[in-house]
Amino acid sequence: MSIIFMVIAIGNMCGMYDKPLQIVSDRESKGLTFSHSKNLDVVDSYGTSRHIAKYAFPLGSTFTLSVRFDLLGMSSSDKRPRLFQSSDSATSESVSKRKRVPWWQNEVIYQIYPRSFKDSKGLGSGDLKGIISKLDYLKELGIGAIWLSPIYTSPMADFGYDISNFMDIDPVFGNMTDFEELLGSCHEKGLKVIMDFVPNHSSNEHEWFMKSVQMEDPYTDYYIWSDPLGFTEKGDPIPPNNWVSVFRGSAWTWVEERQQFYFHQFLAKQPDLNFRNSHVREEMKNILKFWLDKGVDGFRIDALKHLFEVEDIYQDEPIASDSNLNYPFDYGSLCHTLTVNQPETFDVLKEWRELASQYTDKLLMVEIYDGEIEQVMNYYGNERNPLADFPFNFLMIDKLKNRTELTGKSLKSTVDIWMDNMPEGKWPNWVLGNHDSGRMGSRFGEDLIDALNMLCLLLPGTPITYYGEEIGMINTWISWKDTQDPQGCRYGPKLYEKYSRDPARTPMQWDSTSCAGFTTHTETWLPINENYKTLNVKAQIEAASSHLKIYRSLTLLRKEEAFRSGKLSYPVITNDVFSFARSVNDCEMYLVVINTSENNIMVNMHKNANFRLPDTGVVILRSITDSSENTVPHSEVSLSNLEMVGGEGLVLSLDIQS
Ligand code: GLC
Repeated sequence: MSIIFMVIAIGNMCGMYDKPLQIVSDRESKGLTFSHSKNLDVVDSYGTSRHIAKYAFPLGSTFTLSVRFDLLGMSSSDKRPRLFQSSDSATSESVSKRKRVPWWQNEVIYQIYPRSFKDSKGLGSGDLKGIISKLDYLKELGIGAIWLSPIYTSPMADFGYDISNFMDIDPVFGNMTDFEELLGSCHEKGLKVIMDFVPNHSSNEHEWFMKSVQMEDPYTDYYIWSDPLGFTEKGDPIPPNNWVSVFRGSAWTWVEERQQFYFHQFLAKQPDLNFRNSHVREEMKNILKFWLDKGVDGFRIDALKHLFEVEDIYQDEPIASDSNLNYPFDYGSLCHTLTVNQPETFDVLKEWRELASQYTDKLLMVEIYDGEIEQVMNYYGNERNPLADFPFNFLMIDKLKNRTELTGKSLKSTVDIWMDNMPEGKWPNWVLGNHDSGRMGSRFGEDLIDALNMLCLLLPGTPITYYGEEIGMINTWISWKDTQDPQGCRYGPKLYEKYSRDPARTPMQWDSTSCAGFTTHTETWLPINENYKTLNVKAQIEAASSHLKIYRSLTLLRKEEAFRSGKLSYPVITNDVFSFARSVNDCEMYLVVINTSENNIMVNMHKNANFRLPDTGVVILRSITDSSENTVPHSEVSLSNLEMVGGEGLVLSLDIQS
């Protein structure tokens, strides 16, 4: 008796690849021999793109089937690098022996800012049905999980990070039925769904807050309330301390009804919840449980380090040594010793970890912006006391602010900071952009876009890609009149450009039709970047080479064992060059070389290399800015004379067996 095992591989969608997929298998896994054809029948049952292969296996047998994608559409030519050889290769063996790892160690996470991804209703702002309509795109891109920035009921003072009902969907985005459809469709397609969890504060329009203002129990102490220190001569109440909000200005707002101040680390419309109150802790656990029971695959925990403040609030925070006295209410004017990273935060995180552990394979990733790496690492916990699966690695945003700060050496030391400080046995991650930072192409230069995606997807760890980075979207200039971000607005017309987060939140550029295919409306909630006519998904699918195609190749490439579990080494680091190698079994190696400078350079990978490299390598991928005949993919190149254009990244395959 036999069953049909069907492999459905979607790798050639929308013309991204122009050669059939190749499927190879472990031949004699668990003593079972099965026949297979190397040249599978490829049935194109999906317009241009779906490939289906059928195998017959005895019922009840266990086996390992390794499905591999021929990234470059290479046929069996002499140039084929080792890694594309089939069945008996070391790669296949190690695949079958590989220890089981949680899904998030294999997958690429893609952050969706729902308001800007895709509008299904023609209202000018994105929604859940819009996301559903683009799931195939994400799947084809090789994404394994989506993280949704908040979609809960909210007055939108901070665009969803001010929540008035943690267990419902804001009508702007749709409703719970839409959410369930989204979750179901994602799971059907093998995509995980990660929710944004915002525990530090609610909206001031949350029923808890309104009842707390009224001192209605049990809500009376759901928030951080304080009596005034006294009153000024004019009769104005004086806040209990000098604490300031992340968004600038005093962190205390006076409420006439209660004759008390309440505390808010962000906007006044985002009052901080009181985690010393056991009801609040229970409420938050119930919220997590609510979404876990729905079947979500994990959480991104927002602003976690702000969860607690010292209990005795009648203390000032010290003035920062580099404080700008003209702006005493700027967040940077104080050293935040009393309002962040308090020890109790870790107890609460532990409770959440324990709750998540009652389910299978749930991811907890936490947002911690902190200059002190030890503080950030504390959120991993340790083997005995695991906390987050990882805190976000913001070093490439925080430490490297612009092109001048990005050199081969500074990249290396930035990567080292994470790798050297990460607790034993923990897993790294790489973040190059998000809804709070500028787009990576604007921060570092558009010539570096492919190279940065190579870095993010090929270093060991989980890559987290912000929507649009796969096509190289850049910041959009937004006038003061169009500015929406409360952080920008609070700085006024003169300073808003420095602080506004709007430039990186503009609508996704799908095609060259009006409003970039984002909406059928004539207006969008934030302006669309003028470059959308040429910089868009459709154009990049159709182009012979594009950021999108490089990105897609990277998501495939990282499935190779060398990238999943291979060793990491750095053969050459100079001011202009950052290079790293990933290898398994001392025979198969990939080399990634990045020219961090803006100039064309010749790189000699043998000079100053800290281990012996072969004479040549085969080009697997190169930045789209490189049009040289010599580096066309599949070409063999000399490692002593690697020609690289400014900002270029190259991925080479090396045969190190000889
Ligand atoms: C986090 C979010 C940011 C938000 C803030 C307040 O830092 O990433 O967008 O404004 O928390 O919730």
